[in-house]
Amino acid sequence: MRRAASRRSLRLQSFAKINLGLEVLGTRDDGYHELRTLFQTIDLADEIVLRPRPNGAGVTVSCPHPLVPRDESNLAVRAAEALRRFGRVEAGVHIEIRKRIPVGGGLGGGSSNAAAVLRGLDALWRLGLGPEGLHGLARKLGADVPYFLVGGTVLGLARGDEVYPLRRQLQAHVVLVDAGLPVSTEAVFRRLDQSLTPRGNSNSIFYFVSRDLEGKQDLRLLTNDLEQAALDEAPALKERAERIRGVLVQAGAGLVALSGSGSTYFGLFSEAGGARRGRSALVAAGFMAIGARTLSLDQYRRAWSHSLGR
Ligand code: C5P
Repeated sequence: MRRAASRRSLRLQSFAKINLGLEVLGTRDDGYHELRTLFQTIDLADEIVLRPRPNGAGVTVSCPHPLVPRDESNLAVRAAEALRRFGRVEAGVHIEIRKRIPVGGGLGGGSSNAAAVLRGLDALWRLGLGPEGLHGLARKLGADVPYFLVGGTVLGLARGDEVYPLRRQLQAHVVLVDAGLPVSTEAVFRRLDQSLTPRGNSNSIFYFVSRDLEGKQDLRLLTNDLEQAALDEAPALKERAERIRGVLVQAGAGLVALSGSGSTYFGLFSEAGGARRGRSALVAAGFMAIGARTLSLDQYRRAWSHSLGR
């Protein structure tokens, strides 16, 4: 091993994201899709504890959630293995994951866990790579992983892995609603490709960013091109989506949308009171609804500094 690893454990918060808007521009030679998306971190977070293990002891993971794999197919394990190889580290690590972010809901939990493991082990193993030095490894792990090295309100291009923070960071109260019909991201993209409806490329994100530069945040412009494909993939979602949208709009949400490929919907509110009313109305209608706040780039950075003791 090149440097002495720290022997203490590290406790990290691994935040969720929502996609304020998402446009699919076409297919790429690598099988992925060319995207334009606006990512936003929220303060709903999993907790990750990294416990050092002796040299040669390898990487292990524990997580009580039934849908989270406890072998090498777990993205957090793959992140640790990739960094170990890259940094020629012999020390092992045990990764403990306490899930609060709904699994398979389009909130980026797995990608966020992978980015948290990269950042945490970079510190624990004293590799000194930082977010910039970890970017290449993050891209190979998944399209959303690089975003979680940055956080806040960010424009994502290419596969979503080219990330550009916006100057104006959104501040809002968020209501998340689990529509209860998990859909596979891969299946939703496949469905979009098979759709007979011609895909008219929208410019809503371009307009949002232009308006943002003028000092105006026009959330109503934003749309998610994956929503129709997700509704086709899980037809029972349609009726639930209409009810969720109705309740959140009634409570005063400025934007109601599906996050990523779903199946979590969210509403954004400028006032805490509206968010509270929206959440209560959804719970009364039998939905699983969670309240959260957006996290800006600075708030995200501060949370990292705090966790890494810097
Ligand atoms: O990169 P990640 O494993 O998170 O992506 C999950 C799936 O989503 C991919 O296997 C691919 O089917 C789809 N995807 C895509 N284009 C993107 C991002 C994801 O087709 N830009």
